[in-house]
Amino acid sequence: MAKVTLKGLTKIYGKNTVVDHIELTVENGTLVSILGPSGCGKTTTLRMLAGFELPDDGEVLFDDEPVGNVPVNKRGIGMVFQSYALFPHMTVFQNVAYGLEQRKIPKQDIEPQVMEALRTVHMADFRDRKPSQLSGGQQQRVALARALVIKPRVLLLDESLSALDKKLRVEMQTELRRILEETHVTTFFVTHDQEEAMTLSDTIVVMHDGKIEQMGTPREVYEKPKNRFVADFLGKANFFEGIVTETGEGTVTIDTGNEKITIPADGAEAGEKVLYAVRPEKVKVFEKSEKPAGRTGIDGSADRFVYKGNITTCTVDSGSMSILSEMNSGDERKDAGRNAEVFVTWEPEDAIRLEE
Ligand SMILES: Nc1ncnc2c1ncn2[C@@H]1O[C@H](COP(=O)(O)OP(=O)(O)OP(=O)(O)O)[C@@H](O)[C@H]1O
Ligand SMILES: [Mg+2]
Repeated sequence: MAKVTLKGLTKIYGKNTVVDHIELTVENGTLVSILGPSGCGKTTTLRMLAGFELPDDGEVLFDDEPVGNVPVNKRGIGMVFQSYALFPHMTVFQNVAYGLEQRKIPKQDIEPQVMEALRTVHMADFRDRKPSQLSGGQQQRVALARALVIKPRVLLLDESLSALDKKLRVEMQTELRRILEETHVTTFFVTHDQEEAMTLSDTIVVMHDGKIEQMGTPREVYEKPKNRFVADFLGKANFFEGIVTETGEGTVTIDTGNEKITIPADGAEAGEKVLYAVRPEKVKVFEKSEKPAGRTGIDGSADRFVYKGNITTCTVDSGSMSILSEMNSGDERKDAGRNAEVFVTWEPEDAIRLEE
């Protein structure tokens, strides 16, 4: 329930700057997911937010107040980490009550607050069970209740759902979203699962080497990635890079160094260095005999069409590059067979111009 600002936040271990002057403002009640490869500084950022680590430069502010001198237990932080170790010898109730007892909350107030937190995560009926008598998802919910019971201003979730199987995980995502809408707590969520980040977040922050590469709504970051790293990290992309030699109506001819190719694209001028990304779901594949007249695209041979349930993928080899296409399996399509001669194309606006 606090606005959180990270101002030039930096952490250096030895010679490595693992969090590098991060600037970020998260409005009250927002859910922010932090995505990025292993070792890019996600956990370190959360640890500085919580006060477990001191920044080497910059600061953390809650509601515009610096919290640098506020110790961990006074920051009003709720945390659930990947190993959400509950105390095994305590019941569900006692696990959740623990944080309140530590805070010296009067005894008569503890029971109603614990029960409220347990009801929020739909675990009130399990109050007298021990953790060993619960499923993984139920334990996770108790861990969440334990973090929520202290009415945190900020909730930190680090890979909190990654121990769960797919189905349970999706259930917990929905649950989490509901809980956060009820409690309006500002939440930082670290995950490796981009679908999870897309599903849950108001804002996605993509980190790389201790820096923020891009932040925005899930749609902005996926549909308008700034650079190759973001386009590649979040989803898949076909890249086209080189110097523009010629432009036409919705077409751009690029000298890639090996060859000149003309692709459907906009927004470039002759002589410019360009990098375009095209998402595989935008790439349409036609059998050569059905090639639409007058369309710009690339000829190639398709490997086999791979049926993956909701989508069917195929990789087209043009001789100098390979282009991935992901088609909706529901669309009617003949399997062109192995090494079929095909033509691939997309709409000019589906070629996203990237910075680098
Ligand atoms: N106490 C420490 N001393 C030295 N280096 C550390 C320490 N803690 C983390 N690091 C290094 O800092 C970098 C960032 O670590 P961090 O745990 O923040 O990564 P992460 O983004 O959370 O990665 P993962 O996705 O694997 O959890 C890593 O290179 C890590 O080895
Ligand atoms: Mg981590």
